[in-house]
Amino acid sequence: MIKAVIFDLDGVIVDTAHYHYVAWQRLAKELGISFTEKENERLKGVSRMHSLEIILEIGGVTLSQAKKEELATKKNSWFVEYIEAIRPEEIFKGVKEMLQELRTQGFRVALASSSKNAETVLRLLQIKNMFDAVVDGTMIKNSKPDPEIFLLAASKLGVSPDVCVVFEDAEAGVEAALAAGMKCVGVGSADQLGKAHAIVKSTADFPISKLNSL
Ligand code: BG6
Ligand code: MG
Repeated sequence: MIKAVIFDLDGVIVDTAHYHYVAWQRLAKELGISFTEKENERLKGVSRMHSLEIILEIGGVTLSQAKKEELATKKNSWFVEYIEAIRPEEIFKGVKEMLQELRTQGFRVALASSSKNAETVLRLLQIKNMFDAVVDGTMIKNSKPDPEIFLLAASKLGVSPDVCVVFEDAEAGVEAALAAGMKCVGVGSADQLGKAHAIVKSTADFPISKLNSL
């Protein structure tokens, strides 16, 4: 019996995944590295530094730790600039209603994002109070595909992993959910998210009534 639902943030609740991509592409361009939208799928759900390392690997570039820190900070300052104007109206269609309905039906609801900017995004969207627990990139050692973030979310909710369903748009996120022993709904395309128990185009397309048949 499913008792809890855990949501990723970027790309599941709001289209901030796009701003991450635009900022990384800007950085890649500065470094003379060609970086496509397909390659960007590898960055979804993984930490800021790991994302940079993937881009450097694509470009065959080796840099010192200090230089990498500088570039990661630069990308983040662009990302923060891009999301400054985000408004509650940008929450994906039907998601707010879904969060409300889940709680009305007695499910525990958590947010689990690898991002260190998750608090800022939740504040701008004015939805922090819709979650019983929030876990973000500042609270974990290992980001997705490691299951740490989802296990921490389950423990904060006071439930065991096998009664949790995760909504994820990242391949690394689906892997993390499965490694945590949870059910997973992929939000996006089967090309990247084929391992998920179900796939929907948009988060709210998944009916709450089907959570127990995954
Ligand atoms: C995840 C995004 O939610 O957070 C990744 O899918 C991003 O693309 C990661 O790299 C870390 O985010 P931040 O905001 O801490 O750089
Ligand atoms: Mg995501």
